[in-house]
Amino acid sequence: MQLLSLSTLNYRNLQDATLPFPAGVSGLWGENGAGKTNLLEAAYLALTGLTDAPRLEQLVRSGEREAYVRADLMAGGSLSVLETGVGRGRRTTRVDGVRVRGQELPRGSAVWIRPEDSELVYGPPTLRRAYLDALLSRLSPRHAQMLQRYDRTLAQRNAALRAGEDWAMAVWDESLVTLGSEIMQLRRRAAGRLAELAAAAHAQLGSQKPLQLQLQESTDPERFRHDLGRRRAEELSRGATVVGPHRDDLNLTLGDFPAGDYASRGEARTIALALRKAELDLLTEKFGEQPVLLIDDFSAELDPHRRAFLLQLAASVPQAIVTGTEAFPGAARTLHVAAGGVLAQEVEA
Ligand SMILES: Nc1ncnc2c1ncn2[C@@H]1O[C@H](COP(=O)(O)OP(=O)(O)OP(=O)(O)O)[C@@H](O)[C@H]1O
Ligand SMILES: [Mg+2]
Repeated sequence: MQLLSLSTLNYRNLQDATLPFPAGVSGLWGENGAGKTNLLEAAYLALTGLTDAPRLEQLVRSGEREAYVRADLMAGGSLSVLETGVGRGRRTTRVDGVRVRGQELPRGSAVWIRPEDSELVYGPPTLRRAYLDALLSRLSPRHAQMLQRYDRTLAQRNAALRAGEDWAMAVWDESLVTLGSEIMQLRRRAAGRLAELAAAAHAQLGSQKPLQLQLQESTDPERFRHDLGRRRAEELSRGATVVGPHRDDLNLTLGDFPAGDYASRGEARTIALALRKAELDLLTEKFGEQPVLLIDDFSAELDPHRRAFLLQLAASVPQAIVTGTEAFPGAARTLHVAAGGVLAQEVEA
């Protein structure tokens, strides 16, 4: 797939502009705070509708009410215009001028690799669950729908627990078990393939220690109903549902040890890179075309092995946009980012 051009309006510190992007590797370099991450974040939002900004209004340039991004995407031999507008607590999405829901954007259009991905290794289970669920939701609209319904049911069940409505539990348990069991099945299937792909990518990265990835479930489809009943008293006293897929984790083991407790900074980055490569492979398998690859701050990945891997990875996809505080050595085209603008004086490498 190829992002033909990216337009932004009122987006963080970026100057309003339409930037064309050719196929191949584009390298964007600039000082700290220039706007490189913002540019990739805007591209990712435009291409996928996804952002992990805690509040949507953070994306809007201070002093403005609304921001807008647009991606002209070439995928499957045809052009789509993807537009997203965001403001305080609200978001609108259009494909070719027609209002759609966020999930209706092309789901395999981009993968974003960034230094913060190390948090997938060190951070709390929530982050790994979010990684897995975001990926599964992109692979299967059914999973996205199940998850939304599960989250809603969970919130209602928790409210009933806090209100001490013991009598209402049979009804909530029924829907939670039905939805939760299906989510567990979908996760199990995808986690198996993800584990193979991540382990292979990790080995390619030159790591001597094998990476294992395993779903850690708080219950299973057969036991779910029973476990809810067994822990009812505890749930009522805590006012929260204590078992279910919302408590699962993705265990990462490096060699013989849990990666979150033992991995060095570099090892954690390598694992995170392997997870993103697995994401790229899964999306490619599913959609039959490689997503646009966005790599933020390649210079934060300086070990020669990882550097070579990133160079090779960027060169292997139809289009990659790579940022750093220095020019990317593998770029066919280099652009300079300063004060939120991409400078016109382009240097052909
Ligand atoms: N909503 C906003 N309105 C205005 N400016 C913003 C907004 N959000 C972020 N910024 C500013 O955008 C600037 C650029 O941030 P960005 O993270 O893109 O820099 P960067 O080029 O990636 O830097 P680094 O090399 O340090 O990673 C920052 O100075 C930040 O304060
Ligand atoms: Mg940055």
